[in-house]
Amino acid sequence: MSLIEKCRLINLPKIADERGNLTFIEGNKQIPFGIERVYYLYDVPGGAERGGHAHKQLEQLIIASSGSFDVVLDDGNQKKRFHLNRPYFGLYVCPYIWRELDNFSSGSVCTVMASRPYEEDDYFRNYKDYLLVRSRK
Ligand code: TYD
Repeated sequence: MSLIEKCRLINLPKIADERGNLTFIEGNKQIPFGIERVYYLYDVPGGAERGGHAHKQLEQLIIASSGSFDVVLDDGNQKKRFHLNRPYFGLYVCPYIWRELDNFSSGSVCTVMASRPYEEDDYFRNYKDYLLVRSRK
């Protein structure tokens, strides 16, 4: 299996209710890792791009908790674009995947569940360095 094939959309539980729907996530249950950190992107201006990096160890689940945006995943060989627009779908991203987020709708919120604390040493921030490491694997 190629690295990009390990990344997938996960259909999260949805408790439908006329008072409003509810979705929940438990680490190592609906998603394949324990949750160590949660962060979110919001007030993203039109046309902005986020991401532009890969991680050595970090696993993540990316959710459009409100609105929509695109996530482009790249394993160094293959690229795949996902359009996220439902809060009950999460995109699982494994380590060593370069990601870029764009096409944010106005008022969108991108919530990320992460398997590890914030560690700058875990990032590849340079695409050429990332490709070099991937070509050696
Ligand atoms: P970065 O990961 O580059 O943002 P994105 O991938 O979402 O576009 O992070 C942007 C800045 O925020 C950077 O200076 C590091 C800081 N940051 C933290 O301090 N803690 C965190 O958990 C995250 C995700 C980022």
